[in-house]
Amino acid sequence: MKKLIAILSLALLPLTGFASGGGPELESADIDLTDQEAMQRGAKYFVNYCQGCHTLKYFRYERMQDFGLTKEQIKENLLFDKTQKVGSLMTNNMAPEAAAEWFGTAPPDLTLTARLRHGGGDWIYTYLKSFYKDDSRPFGVNNVIFPNVGMPHVLMELQGVQEAVIETDEHGNKHVKELKLAKPGRLSPEEYDQVAKDLATFLTHVAEPMKLERQRIGFWVMLFLFVFFIVSFLLKKEYWKDVH
Ligand code: HEC
Repeated sequence: MKKLIAILSLALLPLTGFASGGGPELESADIDLTDQEAMQRGAKYFVNYCQGCHTLKYFRYERMQDFGLTKEQIKENLLFDKTQKVGSLMTNNMAPEAAAEWFGTAPPDLTLTARLRHGGGDWIYTYLKSFYKDDSRPFGVNNVIFPNVGMPHVLMELQGVQEAVIETDEHGNKHVKELKLAKPGRLSPEEYDQVAKDLATFLTHVAEPMKLERQRIGFWVMLFLFVFFIVSFLLKKEYWKDVH
């Protein structure tokens, strides 16, 4: 019995993913999926600063009710385009072919980005903080974790302009050592971090709206299986008692 319990408790240990090495490190956004206000702000920034180019074509506006907004609030403040309805998917009017021509590549749909990118919300958070001035690029900016990115730094007005301190390693490869704020934007660095975090929180929620629910149900399922295991184990003992 002791051995079995030991095996079982090992099996129940949460399986934690191990980060694989390589590439610049991600900053932790410390995302809290119960922080409804962060998601509300993130949704507002998304509609204002991102939806011109990016869609969330698997997410409906009305699902913003899950983080505390009312249908009226969504209708008044968050529809990208007034011809859309609260029940519409979060699309835009950009023709992918034209976009591909402007940016070198069409802006991808962002519904699942937080699940596709290793690091999830932390990746998005770090990405939004890693644009720096690079005059060799079409939009005058590059990105530390997404080299030669096709996206302009759309939040530059808020963050300001960062410049990279470039370092050459022993193999002669150049890489970005750190970023320095050369020209401040409208927000302080702390305020800008909060904007990046709000957007990352919103996009993490959108990528898996049922995450908290899934974890809650998962806990009870595991508990049930555990109790059921004990009952069946005792029952087996009882049945086999007379056989030996
Ligand atoms: C002017 C158009 C434009 C706007 C506005 C814009 N983006 Fe982008 N974005 C792009 C393009 C183009 C790419 C693809 C870059 C590439 O593949 O080189 C991209 C890529 C991305 C990616 C990487 C996706 C991936 O996994 O490859 C993320 C994340 C992203 N954008 C987030 C945002 C957020 C958040 C905002 C709003 C703050 C925003 N974008 C606003 C054009 C835009």
